[in-house]
Amino acid sequence: MPTSPRKLLPLLPNHSSNRSPMTCLYRCGDACFHEVPNASAGAYLGDIIAAGLSRRSLLKVGAVVAVAGAGAAALGAQPASAAPNRAARGLAFTPVAPNSEHAVTVPEGYTSKVLVRWGDPLFSDAPEFDPENQTAAGQARQFGYNNDHLDLFEIRRDEHVMVINHEYTNEEIMFPGYDPAAPTQEQVEIAWAAHGLTVVGVTGAARGRPSGELTTVVDHRLNRRLTATTEFRLSGPVVGSDYVKTAADPRGRDVLGTLNNCAGGITPWNTWLTAEENFNQYFANADAVTDPVVRERLRRYGLGGGASQRKWEAYDSRFDLGQEPNEVNRFGWIVEVDPFDPESTPRKRTALGRFKHEAANVHLGQHNHVVAYMGDDERFDYLYKFVSRDQFRRNDPEHNDTLLDNGTLYVARFTGNSPAEEIDGSGTLPSDGAFDGAGEWIPLVTSDERGATSHVEGMTGIEVLVFTRQAGDAVQATKMDRPEDVETNPLTGVLYVALTNNSNRGTGTNPGPDETNPRSTNRHGHVIELLETGNDPLALAFGWRIFLLCGDPNDPSTYFAGYDKSQVSPISCPDNVTFDPYGNLWISTDGNALGTNDGLFGVAVDGEYRGQVKQFLTVPTSAETCGPKVTETRVLVCVQHPGEASGASFENQFSHWPDGGTSVPRPSVVVAWRPDGIRIGR
Ligand code: FEO
Ligand code: CA
Ligand code: CA
Repeated sequence: MPTSPRKLLPLLPNHSSNRSPMTCLYRCGDACFHEVPNASAGAYLGDIIAAGLSRRSLLKVGAVVAVAGAGAAALGAQPASAAPNRAARGLAFTPVAPNSEHAVTVPEGYTSKVLVRWGDPLFSDAPEFDPENQTAAGQARQFGYNNDHLDLFEIRRDEHVMVINHEYTNEEIMFPGYDPAAPTQEQVEIAWAAHGLTVVGVTGAARGRPSGELTTVVDHRLNRRLTATTEFRLSGPVVGSDYVKTAADPRGRDVLGTLNNCAGGITPWNTWLTAEENFNQYFANADAVTDPVVRERLRRYGLGGGASQRKWEAYDSRFDLGQEPNEVNRFGWIVEVDPFDPESTPRKRTALGRFKHEAANVHLGQHNHVVAYMGDDERFDYLYKFVSRDQFRRNDPEHNDTLLDNGTLYVARFTGNSPAEEIDGSGTLPSDGAFDGAGEWIPLVTSDERGATSHVEGMTGIEVLVFTRQAGDAVQATKMDRPEDVETNPLTGVLYVALTNNSNRGTGTNPGPDETNPRSTNRHGHVIELLETGNDPLALAFGWRIFLLCGDPNDPSTYFAGYDKSQVSPISCPDNVTFDPYGNLWISTDGNALGTNDGLFGVAVDGEYRGQVKQFLTVPTSAETCGPKVTETRVLVCVQHPGEASGASFENQFSHWPDGGTSVPRPSVVVAWRPDGIRIGR
């Protein structure tokens, strides 16, 4: 890939991670620079004991989990040291070195290509990409901006439908002559069309041959764009409630668009879940709201102030809280999409609660009940799960379409098993050798055809669903270090929770370290292993322990599951996670606070190489690695926000990736594989 001839712009003044201030502004609405929205009285071990749950009983739960056959075995033994040139099955590659290249780098013996870029036509009637002359109509038929989550559904051998969401736009580097104070209507409408989702057919380039290469199919029968103006439908108990009725939709059911979609997952019935995350930043004029109860609800979700960053309220009053106070309540949901039916209306599943959803990953529990695990990506917010009332039925799509409307939403409360004085914020392991303990799932609300039944004193069931964060506060859920993606190891049932970072932990009046979030000023994040009691996703208690404390392995506060730290790749800010076919965990990073590029890492979770983190790929400087999908023959990632550096503009781009020359940077999906046909990591 070509290297930019330009002088590099400063990347990170006063930022605790390597994320550009521009990314903070456009992606999250500067979430980390506002006050922590969770001002609730905390959830500390002392409070929980005071609430009547004895430490002894909590420890007992943990002990049961730890010694349960599934527990001890599945949570894995500490590794013996291993030769540096050996690795777990599926991870035998030479790690990529940390770097600051304007390029995607992959291990020796691998190759990669851009599969699809912002602006690529998905239909033959779409215009070729021309950044000087984009139109909203053209953008709605082209691949959107800032691809984040991706997944593949198999149609037949080496023909897939690929789903990708487009989290947000960065108008300053997208549009010539952009004036942030006064965007034009066309620019705003292009941004609406560049948000949302893409469904696109992809085929193996070498059918019948063992190649990982892929190609997108223009005009594939399943190709589809969904944008900020496509019709979506609310589903579940919140439909028709006063909190979601608007002037344009007095029935409180039909919503235009989906915004700020982050990660997601595939259901056992072959639909796609995608998560609305930092939706708050699109809504203006929270200051115009005078009702103190409504104001507090808005504040808890990070809404405040006057004009929005993108000024959409100038062209559609639904983004103006002063004019339409309920539109904001129609965002912040998990969205379910049927990628096999281009005519279907996607559902916003209200029974799964409303917060800054990072993702939802569905697993089958005993008797085929469905369990969805979900993180709320904000400092000091919570981890949730939804358990369906009904059971999944193979080959009954009509029934399965109701599974996420009926069931119970829970929030997690963690307890450590080491004395509080041993958790000093430094990352030093307590005397029992592990940051570990027990936990319980606290029921918040049960949804069914008749409505929503609250389990939280002082809130109705509908209020719990629409203002879920406040329900978590009320039951003293555990305040986590930004819970991001959550995935279950399909081979063992152990759940992996990525906590990306929390530089506010232990600062000022913010909550201090606890055994689950044990580092003060946690800049590099950590990964927790969680095992439900009896290895049953329906259980209401679990055991947990920390798998990785990320950072530079030379930093004494890091921990790599006990593996030899001289034999691991540095890793910072774990975000999206996935598993390969061998049960190895793959982690993509967002905002590498070590100062080098973000990347994708594989790590064994069991056996002698448990904890051996190996970097597989890096993305260009200023970009983030998202999406990851790892199969036997290919690795796919989304390269999000290339060129998003402070001070960059359309006229003064920081990056020209991937097209080189003087081109605009284009968020893209990249596929990597071995041209010799050997499988990934073998
Ligand atoms: Fe869109 Fe939590 O990252
Ligand atoms: Ca412990
Ligand atoms: Ca993410």
